[in-house]
Amino acid sequence: LEADILAAVEGAGDAAALEAVRVSALGKSGSISDLLKSLGGMSPDERRERGPQINGLRDRVQAAIAARKQVLEAAELDAKLAAEKVDLTLPAPPRRKGSVHPTMQVMDEMIAVFAEMGFSVAEGPDIETDFNNFTALNFPPKHPAREMHDTFFLPEDANGERKVLRTHTSPVQVRVMHAVNEKLPSWIANGQEPPIRVIVPGRTFRKDSDQTHTPMFHQIEGLVIDKAIHMGHLKWTLETFLSRYFETPEVVTRFRPHHFPFTEPSAEMDVQCDRSGGEVKIGQGTDWLEILGCGMVHPNVLRNCGLDPDVWQGFAFGCGVDRLGVLKYGMPDLRDMFASDVRWLEHYGFSP
Ligand code: PHE
Repeated sequence: LEADILAAVEGAGDAAALEAVRVSALGKSGSISDLLKSLGGMSPDERRERGPQINGLRDRVQAAIAARKQVLEAAELDAKLAAEKVDLTLPAPPRRKGSVHPTMQVMDEMIAVFAEMGFSVAEGPDIETDFNNFTALNFPPKHPAREMHDTFFLPEDANGERKVLRTHTSPVQVRVMHAVNEKLPSWIANGQEPPIRVIVPGRTFRKDSDQTHTPMFHQIEGLVIDKAIHMGHLKWTLETFLSRYFETPEVVTRFRPHHFPFTEPSAEMDVQCDRSGGEVKIGQGTDWLEILGCGMVHPNVLRNCGLDPDVWQGFAFGCGVDRLGVLKYGMPDLRDMFASDVRWLEHYGFSP
């Protein structure tokens, strides 16, 4: 019997088979249990002889089962580890990477061109005082021009002051020209003494939405203040900038007289392009597209900023970054710039 049971223990291939062997030997009606029960019906002499034999058998079978159990458990663990092994040489599944948004890419390109031309960068806050956005820039008080900008006004504060979401980057002209300024966070432009040569990239806001307008858009402002600055400097700067930005000497431009309260004379600049094929192509065609406003800084603005117009002159310009991006990359609708559609971004090569 012992040899049979021990062979069965050794032959058990898994935990379930081993348990079956245990039950058949040591379970309620197992073979060894039956032997143990039979002790009760024996004479004392017989029992003295058979008792230790049967108990010894039970102990040896129990020990064999325990040993086999350990072996099986170790094998099971090995198999599990082998099955769960990580193969570090397998190629990783593809993952989407983020990328620079077209507007920021265009902004960087524009800043790089101006930096090469000797401009430094100044920044101002999105929430601006009515004074910096309008008054200091020579917008008369209560003048319809303030409403003309489709301004987002903030509620009046405790001092009765009504802040605005800046409608253009021009208020940063005021911040830069004010030689003495309030204590501001380091990223906000502080006053500088002339000569001044800065560009101001930033977000701007107007209540406007159609194919060529979005309520939030981006501008780059330029400001140069020095002695004996004239329109020729302005024209050269903008033409040089545009041909470098569009990476072609063939950019044809024109200046149209215009009106801004903060420049005199003022102009708008158009680029010649071809709009016949749906998308806009620069360097060909007979159409014109307005891309920026500019002019000579108005003497009142210089005075409002503490500069003597008989000593200092300058020019300023402000152009739409998103609009120039749309032009360079041939995108038909400005609003797509801010729709966050990954398929659109991929189409224009902005996402891998
Ligand atoms: N701030 C003007 C606009 O947003 C552009 C401009 C800037 C015009 C500087 C003249 C000088 O339309």
